[in-house]
Amino acid sequence: MRRGYKVLIVDDDRAIGEVLAEYMHKKGLTVFTETDPRKVMTKVETVIPDIVFLDVRMPHIDGMTLLRQLKKEKNIYTVMMTAFATMENIIEAFREGVDDYLLKPFKLNDIDIILNRAFNIINLRNAYNSLKEEIETIHEEQIITQNERVLKILEDAKRVAPLDVTVIIYGESGTGKDLLAKYIHHHSRRKDGPFIPVNLGAIPHELAESELFGHERGAFTGAVEEKMGLFRSAEKGTIFLDEIGEASPGLQVKLLRVIETRRILPVGSGKELPVDVRIIAATNRNLEEEVKTGNFREDLFFRLNTVPFYLPPLRERLEDIPLLVEYFIKKAALTHGVPEKKISKQALSKLMSYNWPGNIRELRYIIERAVILSKGETITEEDIELHPIEKQEKKQSNEELKPLVELEKDAIEKALKLYKNKKEAARVLGIDPSTLYRKMKRYGIKEEL
Ligand SMILES: Nc1ncnc2c1ncn2[C@@H]1O[C@H](COP(=O)(O)OP(=O)(O)OP(=O)(O)O)[C@@H](O)[C@H]1O
Ligand SMILES: [Mg+2]
Repeated sequence: MRRGYKVLIVDDDRAIGEVLAEYMHKKGLTVFTETDPRKVMTKVETVIPDIVFLDVRMPHIDGMTLLRQLKKEKNIYTVMMTAFATMENIIEAFREGVDDYLLKPFKLNDIDIILNRAFNIINLRNAYNSLKEEIETIHEEQIITQNERVLKILEDAKRVAPLDVTVIIYGESGTGKDLLAKYIHHHSRRKDGPFIPVNLGAIPHELAESELFGHERGAFTGAVEEKMGLFRSAEKGTIFLDEIGEASPGLQVKLLRVIETRRILPVGSGKELPVDVRIIAATNRNLEEEVKTGNFREDLFFRLNTVPFYLPPLRERLEDIPLLVEYFIKKAALTHGVPEKKISKQALSKLMSYNWPGNIRELRYIIERAVILSKGETITEEDIELHPIEKQEKKQSNEELKPLVELEKDAIEKALKLYKNKKEAARVLGIDPSTLYRKMKRYGIKEEL
């Protein structure tokens, strides 16, 4: 018999509770008894039993009502006990989710059978729950990639994570800046401290300072109470200053000072306070350009730019698409409780030939949608809904316009590199192999890239 499990016996007949308790106690279980059904729910919350034995007929609240409450609030293993069992009420109890039934009068041997069954099921449930939790937490933090540049970033990130150095992450929207910031936090000695993300693009300029550094009571109209501010909430942890390029000139000065002195000045206060916080910044802007145009302070830029990471856009790491697709299918299936699906080759090549203005976030939504809406076991080309025209128009600036021949050459090189097989490459490009061969000759592209 497994020791350490907790059992709660609920029976208004004290004698029965005691007999059972004594027997189970000898088996090494921790046993609690309760004769007043009105006290059961509180008892359950405070002793957190693994198994509850419930008598059916009791004054004030009957066993069936308690069973319903127990199953609604906690999924505890329950065993009903009764001397007046009819087929109907046994069936009703099972409908309500009871796990087992004990008929009175019982032999002690019956208890052994019931307990063994209970332990097996509880173990299974626990194993399932911890596995589920594990899957969920792994998924939360996983960065999927086989791209050399991203792998190098992760390696470097691991190396700088334990140091308190300020880090800045550059990348288009949806390239994984948040994810990388969390990754650095989790690999730092601050991992058990808070990770506080702040989107500077989403806070009105006039509120940013008090949001970040807090304020004294009465510092300004509306400041009825003292406010701690996000820097202090991040004490012993990491603050993630997302969209740092949006910081107002005034805030830029103050941030520079915080980075240099590790002290903050709450609004309306004359006293600086020390903070022990690691700063990670991110932006989808080109800060160097912003410095040139006078929108961003040069001194702050240099301070932030000690350790810069540049996350490549998805269109420059197409080899990650199959991996990401598989990962997002799993994730969507798990979240929505639908079976995992496969993806057809055509659907995959459709994804590979798109330019991904929304990067990995966009891919994630498209896959999630396809998993939910696709009818069969396989996601097909029709299930993949891209929005190339409007997005491409928005994205394309003059400098991205290239002569068609160059685009064609790029596409061929990319396809050959990805598939390492002319036939496959031709299929993805939508041309036949002989055309591909002719074009390769014309552009002087060698086969093994
Ligand atoms: N390498 C990756 N592996 C798995 N999931 C990823 C990866 N990169 C990004 N994602 C997922 O894509 C989505 C967007 O990522 P994230 O929020 O980190 O991007 P971002 O660069 O911060 O975007 P924004 O600039 O819009 O804030 C998230 O759901 C994230 O989990
Ligand atoms: Mg982000």
